[in-house]
Amino acid sequence: MTIDTTASSVSGINIKSSQNRLLIKNGRVVNDDGMEDADVYIEDGVIKQVGRNLIIPGGTRTIDATGKLVMPGGIDPHTHFELEMMGAKSVDDFYKGTRAAVAGGTTTVIDFVLPNKGQSLIEAYNNWRQKADGKVCCDYALHVGVTWWSPSVRNEMEMLTNDQYGVNSFKMFMAYKDAWMLNDYELQCALEACTELQALAQVHAENGNIIARNCEKLLAAGVTGPEGHPRSRDEEVEAEAVNRACVIANQANSPLYIVHIMSKSAIQALQNARTRQRPPLYGETLAATVGTDGSHYRNACFRHAAAHVLSPPLRADPSTPQAIVEALADDSLQVIGSDNCTFHEKDKELGKGNFTKIPNGVNGVEDRMAILWQKAVNTGVMDPCRFVAVTSANAAKIFNLWPQKGRVEAGSDADVVVWDPRLQRTISAATHHQAVDFNIFEGQEVVGSPQYVIVNGRVCLDDGQLRVAEGFGKFLKTPVNCPYVYGLPEPGTPPLDEPPSPDVPSPAHVSNGGSHSPDLKLLNKHLEGVSVTSSGCSTPTGRKMREPGQRDLQNSTFSISKEVEGLDTKTSVRVRNPPGGKSSGLW
Ligand code: URP
Ligand code: ZN
Ligand code: ZN
Repeated sequence: MTIDTTASSVSGINIKSSQNRLLIKNGRVVNDDGMEDADVYIEDGVIKQVGRNLIIPGGTRTIDATGKLVMPGGIDPHTHFELEMMGAKSVDDFYKGTRAAVAGGTTTVIDFVLPNKGQSLIEAYNNWRQKADGKVCCDYALHVGVTWWSPSVRNEMEMLTNDQYGVNSFKMFMAYKDAWMLNDYELQCALEACTELQALAQVHAENGNIIARNCEKLLAAGVTGPEGHPRSRDEEVEAEAVNRACVIANQANSPLYIVHIMSKSAIQALQNARTRQRPPLYGETLAATVGTDGSHYRNACFRHAAAHVLSPPLRADPSTPQAIVEALADDSLQVIGSDNCTFHEKDKELGKGNFTKIPNGVNGVEDRMAILWQKAVNTGVMDPCRFVAVTSANAAKIFNLWPQKGRVEAGSDADVVVWDPRLQRTISAATHHQAVDFNIFEGQEVVGSPQYVIVNGRVCLDDGQLRVAEGFGKFLKTPVNCPYVYGLPEPGTPPLDEPPSPDVPSPAHVSNGGSHSPDLKLLNKHLEGVSVTSSGCSTPTGRKMREPGQRDLQNSTFSISKEVEGLDTKTSVRVRNPPGGKSSGLW
């Protein structure tokens, strides 16, 4: 392991025990289901206590978080570090990529093992572990791509879900014809395998055959520049595939997670599917589509336009970013990732004269949280609890890392962000920590960023100074049969609410109809750090998991003031919500 030379005073992982203790004082703790004014005590990489008047051993380092929010570290469930694709290799490796993640407040990433067609999935998995294990600055897990189909692939999927490998999710591609794409028959087989293994199926939803044909026609018509990319794959091409993926998932009785949803049409297709089918459907979107738009493909500079090429593409409809933010707020979408897959100018130039050869991918792992805060919380569309849900807690639940990750609570890993809602900065490639020489959010002013980032108890962003340690992160095994996806695995696990009737669409899969109602006064209170705390969280409706004996706080008779009665502190109201969380909106 090496320590970042920029500022670290720590000389390795064997830090003396007093240095393993940390108290974050006077902040407002934000989880997906509530906020409270509380101190957080951390020891040996674990959150030991959350509350007031804590008894702390001498020699403990104290961070004053007055006026700041103390949140679970972000989880970016979609990165591609050191990915070889389209004749190039993405330039953010597992060191630079996770370092940038930490700088932006993300403390766990989930990367994708993507085997070549015909390659053993296990061999590809081992390659990924070899690339990542010695380099990661924060914890990471792996999804595995099912890029071809055969009985041996089915076998290897099963092996990968064993404890030895710890994989619980597989990504299938409906695009990238002749590379990673599966046909519908193969996709159904892969989804059935996921159901049998109680793993989570993910799809890249775009119609690869239509794209291939449109590319031929555009090139023949002389359209060779980056503007050809979005023209070859419009919203309909994404929405059709979302619909088809949902139909196939229903046939396979498989829960489904649709990665990088980039358009209003695709969200609509997902919502329609939720009204008619039973296995849960999750939607992920990207920082890219919240923070920028498809107008950049018309930029005369090849470098600029090509830097924005990703799939599905940014959309020309200027109302898309706002619609995506609203979909995240109202639980039409559950997760925001980055799909960080960065290529230098020389790599993007592989597609000069033929847009189909531009390596696909953009940055986002560092700026994901600040971009969403700026576009969603500062505008009053989302409250801080929902921000935590979509940037961290929901991914932890869906990929079975909860509550080890995604929560500030005694017993959880000490992955914590002290978020300064007033910190102002301008995003730029000149100052970002990523390896890539371009930033798609260049010049954007954001208000709200991390001041401290604690990774497994180690202060890795220290009052704005980045002090990561290469290799400090560890691989996280993700067990299958996630209770938030598949229901009840073990005796003693909290029961799901009553199962849905086969005739009535389950609320678990139905949109709650965009019922967020931003309360700007309350939001200002959150940010001003007033001493009286209330949950203040958006409450998308839906079926949720409940701990035994817990009241159902979705019930309309619930009142914050009644909850306050009987609590022994006036400044800290702990709203005890189901583990699904009032604003996580998953169930
Ligand atoms: O353009 C993208 N999204 N590049 C990364 C590969 C993928 O499809 O996720
Ligand atoms: Zn994809
Ligand atoms: Zn991706």
